[in-house]
Amino acid sequence: MITPKELKETLSGISIGASTCNYSIETCEKLTPIINQINALKKQKNTVILAHSYVSPDIIYGVADHVGDSFELSKAAQSTNASTIIFAAVKFMAETAKILNPEKRVYTPSPINGCSLADAITADDVIALRKQYPDHAFICYINTSAEVKALCDCCVTSSNVYDIVDHYPNQNIYFLPDELMGKNIEAYLASKNSNKNFKYYSGTCYVHEEYDPDMIEFLRLNHPDAAIVAHPECKPSIIEKSTFVGSTSQMVNYVKTTDHPQYVLLTECGLTARLQMEAPEKQFIGSCTMCKYMKSNSLGNILNVLESPQPELEIHLNSSTISKAKASLMAMFKYAS
Ligand code: 13P
Ligand code: SF4
Repeated sequence: MITPKELKETLSGISIGASTCNYSIETCEKLTPIINQINALKKQKNTVILAHSYVSPDIIYGVADHVGDSFELSKAAQSTNASTIIFAAVKFMAETAKILNPEKRVYTPSPINGCSLADAITADDVIALRKQYPDHAFICYINTSAEVKALCDCCVTSSNVYDIVDHYPNQNIYFLPDELMGKNIEAYLASKNSNKNFKYYSGTCYVHEEYDPDMIEFLRLNHPDAAIVAHPECKPSIIEKSTFVGSTSQMVNYVKTTDHPQYVLLTECGLTARLQMEAPEKQFIGSCTMCKYMKSNSLGNILNVLESPQPELEIHLNSSTISKAKASLMAMFKYAS
């Protein structure tokens, strides 16, 4: 059992601007009974809670069993013994857990569980593209629906995309759905003098496409020693000006293992909140950019799933989609290892 005072102390290191990350004693008094109920119920109901780094800190430090990037959370989903998975993130991540665990019940706590990348492309779009590019291997970012994964040859995440595309045993590759990541991969392949024929789709992440190179110039002028740490969903003009580029967990690792005077994290601000907790000696500058889908997860909607789950929040996929999408995920695990 945690008390409001203990919760406030636990989360006291967070100082980023978003109201979702401000923990007054009054807020902690409201949250602690919910945290204690969730922690008791998840044991009784043999349930594991997986949380992406972008969700609110009270979920991450109050009730989550595993926190990470999309690759680490797929691994956690693959190895859990629990009979039910609550995935505090977005729908495509919960679907990934279901694909890897068809016999388990998988829930997404919030009905606002989209993703501007996953929603940018449908299975029909992929069918049409495969007709247009019959000699291309189709590599999909994990930020896609199960139906789209089922039509692709190999899945990737931001933690392994550059390596997998580079080493994939096909000369012709079609990458989807992220255009900005596609342009970043193209630049990476060019830097390695790769002769792959590489094409990509036109989706974008509405959070990461916001970052502008002018902002980097401004930061560099005012904080010349700050490390700029960016996610590969950002524009190429941002990536080329960054000190480090990687998945959210790779960004966490970079900050924890380097010693710059300040850090600017160009990704959803939940990651800065996480690092303010886990690396309190580091200094962070910059504003808060939120993903409305990730931030729609709450302790309240996680408790609802444990107490009386709404049927529409359970992930259901047909067996053919599961087996085809699983092949694409297994190809990722094979090439990422
Ligand atoms: P990561 O796999 O790096 O956590 O990225 C997921 C995501 O949705 C980033 O916007
Ligand atoms: Fe999707 Fe962007 Fe939100 Fe990540 S931050 S879940 S890519 S909308």
